[in-house]
Amino acid sequence: MLTCSTVDDLRDHRRRLPGPVALVPTMGALHAGHLALIDAARRHAGPAGSVVVSLFVNPTQFGPNEDLSRYPRPFDQDLAACRKAGVDLLFAPATETIYAPDHSTTVRETGLSRGLCGASRPGHFDGVCTIVLKLFNLVQPDLVVFGHKDYQQLAVIRRLVRDLNVPVEVLGIDTVREPDGLALSSRNAYLDPGQRRQAPALRRALVAARDRFLTQPAPPCGHAAAGLLQLATDLIRRHAPDAAIEYLELVDRDTLQPQTRADRSSVLLGAIRLGQTRLIDNLELAATADPAAPANLPSPVHEAV
Ligand code: PAF
Repeated sequence: MLTCSTVDDLRDHRRRLPGPVALVPTMGALHAGHLALIDAARRHAGPAGSVVVSLFVNPTQFGPNEDLSRYPRPFDQDLAACRKAGVDLLFAPATETIYAPDHSTTVRETGLSRGLCGASRPGHFDGVCTIVLKLFNLVQPDLVVFGHKDYQQLAVIRRLVRDLNVPVEVLGIDTVREPDGLALSSRNAYLDPGQRRQAPALRRALVAARDRFLTQPAPPCGHAAAGLLQLATDLIRRHAPDAAIEYLELVDRDTLQPQTRADRSSVLLGAIRLGQTRLIDNLELAATADPAAPANLPSPVHEAV
């Protein structure tokens, strides 16, 4: 595996990489969710193609009171994980390499990024769009792979690619979960044992609301969003009494606009805080219910989203 940290080295290596080139952008602290992205990148690039992983904790997507300084940075472990996963090129730049001290250009998506996480994390998606476009320009991948766990991020990046005519194919990959349903996230490491026990409540609540939509007969005008969201709220309060609910919303999966009535285009999204740790998750209502799973237990490890 080649590794580099400067733009010149990256460009030099990139010129020699056999295509198609698939990029997996990460902030490091790699877990099985990232490995699934790398695996998908490898499969889509094919045996003759190349997989590039970027590892960069992007400061511009963190708010002033967020966890930038304590975000985990286990570089040696990440390096070993990439090597083991068969990554061809690892790009791990320093902050100064990516952002000139007087940088003054930002990429802003102004539609899909306004609500949900964008409402509670002002500026977050500007930071994401800016770094992602920079990575596209630096790596010039044919394909880029993101996880469905960051549902809004994936939608915003697809919009960026469409609106700015970026010549890259965007692939979204299913969320990878712990056996109790908790979505894998680098931030799960912050949870203390009591918080960890409560953390799957978000997933459990979304599954219960989705299952009510799929299995209970709807009134003639369809399931009201308010009823499904109340069910999810009650379950989070019951199973995670220490959690603060940042948002729970039912939105259209293409526009991310709130819906008052649920239909098969709807997606449930939620964010909760357990102590200082912010957890997000989502579930498309059209995703198939697991017939073996009781209504308010987590679905299988890989859901079909
Ligand atoms: O999803 C992430 O890890 C980050 O938001 C990303 C896409 C790597 C940009 O920093």
